[in-house]
Amino acid sequence: MLNVIQDSHRQKNAEALARLGVGIRRCVKCPLHKSRKHAVPGEGHARAPILLIGEAPGAFEDQQGRPFCGRAGQFPDGLLERCALKRSDVFITNSVKCRPPNNRPPHSKELQTCYKHWLRRQIDIIDPEIIVLFGNIPVRQLLHVNRSLKELHGQFYQKADRLYQIQYHPAAGMRFPNLGAAMARDFEKLSRFSQRPKPRRRHKDD
Ligand code: URA
Repeated sequence: MLNVIQDSHRQKNAEALARLGVGIRRCVKCPLHKSRKHAVPGEGHARAPILLIGEAPGAFEDQQGRPFCGRAGQFPDGLLERCALKRSDVFITNSVKCRPPNNRPPHSKELQTCYKHWLRRQIDIIDPEIIVLFGNIPVRQLLHVNRSLKELHGQFYQKADRLYQIQYHPAAGMRFPNLGAAMARDFEKLSRFSQRPKPRRRHKDD
């Protein structure tokens, strides 16, 4: 019986995320839509305990409409695997859903617009236990913090009723072996955190 209720929550969430995905693919709320091929809503488990947020889609993601499907995507997949997690166990998305021209960093206004219309709603629907922020851009967008990742990475932070872990960006982890090793350690911390005994997760409809 319990399983049936859980499944119905998951189904409702999956439908709500799919509706949001349709809106994201049609979005024209900021100038980034003008140069995109495909918007990239994100993918994964509709009630994922872990939500991973990157910066913005790159060229491969723009081509395929899927997050982290280029070279930078292999890195988080490998780290998840080491923690016995699959991509389908988590939800993975980005601060902005459209590729900025020439991969420039998203502007503040674009970050605010995408958060207000899409990312905030994705977070509400998935209601994860922890949100992992890859790189400075989601850290600025969600925590309004502009400090060095060297200082911030690996730690858990609470803001309002959400828990966050800050990590280096996977592209930096791939490029610089010392940052890659730091990411592997941060993922281990994350996996210890996600395996700890927890109070029952309440759903809005409980
Ligand atoms: N880098 C990101 O931050 N996100 C992607 O989806 C791909 C590369």
